[in-house]
Amino acid sequence: MSDSPRKILVTSALPYANGSPHMGHLVEYIQTDIWVRFQKLRGHDCIYVCASDAHGTPIMLKARELGITPEELTAGYSAEFVNDFADFGVEFDNYHTTHSPENEEIVGQMYAALRASNDIYTRTIEQSYDEKEGMFLPDRFVKGTCPRCKSEDQYGDACEVCGATYAPEDLIDPVSVLSGTTPVKRESEHYFFRLSEYEERLRDWMKVAKLDRNVVAKLDEWFDAGLQDWDISRDAPYFGFRIPGTDDKYFYVWLDAPVGYMASFKHLCDRTDGLDFDAYWNADSDAEVYHFIGKDIMYFHTLFWPAVLKGAGYRTPTSVYAHGFLTVNGQKMSKSRGTFIKARTYLDNLNPEFLRYYYAAKLGPTIEDIDLNLEDFIARVNSDLVGKLVNIASRCAGFISKRFDGELAEVLPEPKLFAEFADASTAIAAHYEAREYSKAMRLIMALADKANRYIDERKPWVMAKDEGARPDVQLVCTQGINMFRSLMVYLAPVIPGVAESARAFLNESSWHWKDAGAPLLGSSINKFKPLLTRVDPKQVERMVEQSKESTPVADNQDDEFISIDDFMKVDLRIARIEKAEPVEGADKLLALTLDVGDDKRQVFAGIKAAYDPETLVGRHVVVVANLAPRKMRFGVSEGMVLAAGPGGEDIFLLSPDDGAKPGMRVK
Ligand code: MSP
Ligand code: ZN
Repeated sequence: MSDSPRKILVTSALPYANGSPHMGHLVEYIQTDIWVRFQKLRGHDCIYVCASDAHGTPIMLKARELGITPEELTAGYSAEFVNDFADFGVEFDNYHTTHSPENEEIVGQMYAALRASNDIYTRTIEQSYDEKEGMFLPDRFVKGTCPRCKSEDQYGDACEVCGATYAPEDLIDPVSVLSGTTPVKRESEHYFFRLSEYEERLRDWMKVAKLDRNVVAKLDEWFDAGLQDWDISRDAPYFGFRIPGTDDKYFYVWLDAPVGYMASFKHLCDRTDGLDFDAYWNADSDAEVYHFIGKDIMYFHTLFWPAVLKGAGYRTPTSVYAHGFLTVNGQKMSKSRGTFIKARTYLDNLNPEFLRYYYAAKLGPTIEDIDLNLEDFIARVNSDLVGKLVNIASRCAGFISKRFDGELAEVLPEPKLFAEFADASTAIAAHYEAREYSKAMRLIMALADKANRYIDERKPWVMAKDEGARPDVQLVCTQGINMFRSLMVYLAPVIPGVAESARAFLNESSWHWKDAGAPLLGSSINKFKPLLTRVDPKQVERMVEQSKESTPVADNQDDEFISIDDFMKVDLRIARIEKAEPVEGADKLLALTLDVGDDKRQVFAGIKAAYDPETLVGRHVVVVANLAPRKMRFGVSEGMVLAAGPGGEDIFLLSPDDGAKPGMRVK
């Protein structure tokens, strides 16, 4: 490879801004960030952009459900993504949103180009329509009984039990997930992109794009099945960009999402002198463009996206790098097991660099899934990072600072041994470049073992007791610290925070990849502070516990949560206290007579220590009106009054604001 800097643009997939970032997302953003940091450390001109994916039906509906605008919803989650990624050391050069003027402009321009090249046509299609909600239903919004195996409650596109794929209208007894009504069929005009005409051009692209063989195998499968034209429009209501020249048609989210890569880059160019959008995206660009993605979105990135780019006259991606999915402890992430861990929950408990290292130690260039085994995580991080790596420095640094005033020796006692560390540069760099991170980590840790063996053999702590061996102590420790330093340079893309502390300890202002091969001699270094502390298994346990708690109710099917339907069964109403009196023979209870609108109720409430009965008369409270009546010693209690607090004198009745009338339902 030549030494002149490469011009590289890198992206990670644009996360949907309707949920918090989790450990699965982090596989991708950490994988990409390591690659970008590696390129930058090598002196290349590498730019990393990303954005929130803000469009589509799920985002529109979630915002509606929360009573906010989609812009507000996605702004909130974008902020979470930006913060959490930054705290994991994922350093974007720009983070934007697909709902941006830059994106709308580029999408519009590309669409015009595709129309001009006769790549777009319209066709009337029939689709499921929810008359109550007044909208067309995406396949996933229709559920019913599988036409093949007759399993109930299956989505409109595929059966999760028998694997059959079908159209929503093939379902037996289909219902709209939104309203529960039976969808009808309705016609509408849709816009199509002629993907079927692109096989030749995509095959050409495939040959030069240096795709992993897993990806090539997938593409071959798709070619064999035959490429279908792609429906790029959706009917209103939809959150997205309106198709120019229409009143009620919108671009399908997956058309404008990858354009968001370009738009985020454009947004950066507009603020950066000398950064030229066209130099990266024109058909004859000599820059490299790489998309890091998960295996679930390969179809969009290896078929639609290169075809659309080609059709609209732009360059195509240099390559698309797909990774596998994350499992935790060998299984799909699970909310009930506490293994659906949000990025923030991890950060609240553990050092982000540990996860970066662990993922690196596991990642390769294939679409194989990767497993985060929590026990293995603790063992690996403690043994590799703390036990091997940091240990090299901590065993040598004290002698240098205490006995040699922080001065390193002028020469290395074992230049041959150091040369092994320097020479590893080529192999380690090749592994990073090829996303063979696990192989790079193995090489680095093998060198760390070697460094530790050297120190074990020389035993500077024994030599230090012998005044005559004084110069040797300095030499051995200088050798040790230099081996440590080379490894830290190699690891800087993976554990940038630790590398930075190590660099500060070594009193250097910056590092370049090449520095790993040139020893630091005769200079003065700073006092060593511990760079990392061991993971305590308790921290991991706590993280898992907290992940059990932070489960959003709507997504959970386990019995520790109630569904919205369960909640709706509770008939909460406003009541007016008409009478309140002590109950004979019961020292905690008051007997309340309540006006609940259409009738009167008697309720016994344990609030005697907290309230003087007379002060309660006329007061409005909240009552559970459909609680089964309970026969007590003093009479029947027909409901329950809501109050908060531990009990005794510390109990507080819940009261509605003025204006609430007896009988009103609480929602
Ligand atoms: N919005 C689309 C991408 C548009 S790109 C033009 C999307 N968003 S996503 O939020 O669902 O996923 C973002 C990325 O995270 C995807 O590449 C996806 O594969 C990856 N991951 C999401 N969950 C994951 C795991 N559990 N494991 C590994 N990667 C995962 O798709
Ligand atoms: Zn089935």
